[in-house]
Amino acid sequence: MSIHIAAKPGDIAETVLLPGDPLRAQFIAETMLQDVHQYNRVRNMFGYTGLYQGRRVSVQGTGMGMPSLSIYVNELFQDFGVKRAIRIGTAGALQEGLHLRDLVIALAASTDSGMNQIRFGGRTFAPAASFSLLKTAYDAALTRSLSPHVGTVVSSDSFYPEDPEEWKLWARFGCLAVEMECAELYTLAAKYRREALALLTISDSLISHEQTTAEERQTAFTQMLDLALITACQ
Ligand code: HPA
Repeated sequence: MSIHIAAKPGDIAETVLLPGDPLRAQFIAETMLQDVHQYNRVRNMFGYTGLYQGRRVSVQGTGMGMPSLSIYVNELFQDFGVKRAIRIGTAGALQEGLHLRDLVIALAASTDSGMNQIRFGGRTFAPAASFSLLKTAYDAALTRSLSPHVGTVVSSDSFYPEDPEEWKLWARFGCLAVEMECAELYTLAAKYRREALALLTISDSLISHEQTTAEERQTAFTQMLDLALITACQ
């Protein structure tokens, strides 16, 4: 039992999928896992453990943004001994070559967040993915003809920034997409010496202003989810 996760020791698997939306966690548990046990409903941030192809895996909602994700991931690593954390989320495209529903595997994450500014006293840290999880996910994606984009993302504290052109700076430095959680996930994995990876589907484009429909998001999400579960259970 930790402050935000009402689970007992052993309730949570060593590998956890992390959707931002707790209803996605519920959907994954109900449609993809067997022998499911719900271990958390505090603040409706649902968490479940079940079996995927006979392997134990958990799925925990994190909420949106780094402060929220940080609460859940700190507790998963510190209090429940979680070894591998795989974020599954959406991101906005920052490069012409990225299209709606494309899959991005985040190699590393820049950030405008105050969290690492505070943590490192104004110094910069380079939050990066686990090479082993990344390689597993990449190889599995290729065998499924998914053509993932592997590269850097930017994790922003603001979905609605004061300067709507701010993303262009990150785009100039090669960031593929913007989302709001990855830098904190990778930083915490480094701190606790665990493994982390973020799989992201492109839900909108800051260049063209296109957005996916709910139906398109569901199809892309299902592909990403399959990949995340395969990566989790390797
Ligand atoms: N900005 C930040 N986070 C996001 C976006 C975006 O455009 N799209 C999906 N997550």
